[in-house]
Amino acid sequence: MKRIAVLTSGGDSPGMNACLRSVFRTANNMGIELVGVRRGYAGLVDGDMFVMTKAHVGNILQNGGTILKTSRSAEFMTEAGFKKAVMNLKKNKIEGLVVIGGDGSMNGALKLAGAGVDVVCVPGTIDNDLGFTDMTLGFDTACGTVVNLVNNIRDTSLSHDRVSVIEVMGAFSGDIALYSGLASGADIVLVPEVPYTVEQVAQRLISNDKNGKSASIVIVNEKACSAPALANSLASYGIDARPLVLGHIQRGGSPSYKDRNLGAFWGNMAVKLIASRTSNVAVGIRNGKHIVVPLEKALKEKKKFDKETYELINYLSL
Ligand code: F6P
Repeated sequence: MKRIAVLTSGGDSPGMNACLRSVFRTANNMGIELVGVRRGYAGLVDGDMFVMTKAHVGNILQNGGTILKTSRSAEFMTEAGFKKAVMNLKKNKIEGLVVIGGDGSMNGALKLAGAGVDVVCVPGTIDNDLGFTDMTLGFDTACGTVVNLVNNIRDTSLSHDRVSVIEVMGAFSGDIALYSGLASGADIVLVPEVPYTVEQVAQRLISNDKNGKSASIVIVNEKACSAPALANSLASYGIDARPLVLGHIQRGGSPSYKDRNLGAFWGNMAVKLIASRTSNVAVGIRNGKHIVVPLEKALKEKKKFDKETYELINYLSL
């Protein structure tokens, strides 16, 4: 094998650069040339790619974001765009492709595999919404960022005896809300996986207040509800609640040691898999062990809701 390519796609996630460094250094150690595709599948459609050198991956390990840049490409989803992407891989004599991204990116990779391209996927998303792996690249850092921000909010919330409603990302997976919620001592966590009513939330906050806790922390997943809308509804119950939408601040920042290490292992595994002609697979982690799963199977695996964590949050809150 002489030449492979790598791209990052979808929402960026902390640890992508650590993974790119590992992909490059593994390929380099194995005598394989690495082509970096800019802007995810959009770059593949446009033929926007370059041969990577040592200099591209030096001193990037500690940085969030992705040096290759990323996008969600509508053109790649069209027949003409997809054909261009496949043609560009062939034209550039690329024998295998490492895709670092979330479920949408992995579905794109599966389509490429169907067209005869050898692909290996690294699950890179802050959402932790993929059933085949216990962790996705960037999730740990995003949770850490949320926890630190909630610490700050808690200070002012306490000083003013106010409720804080904090909206976090995660798309249809409640994991960021759950894990950062438990770690930051949230009183209520609203996730898409569990139905709730505003009445229930209000009564819980009123009861907390009666028990001496007027500065409750409510963490809501972005698809479960909107923080400003919930804070507004709570006002009609006489609850002084301030909303905060954390937004993209959760997606940036220096990756945690866990995400750096996941990036290092998975980048290394991805190149070795392609080199050994084991393609159309995804790498992941299950019960602390790194795993390799056929791509189609990986995408079919349903994400399990972590009821235990959800229940523990409720049990530990006042
Ligand atoms: O998938 C990652 C993610 O950050 C989601 O949590 C969020 O819903 C979405 O991307 C936001 O997308 P964009 O960056 O396009 O606004």
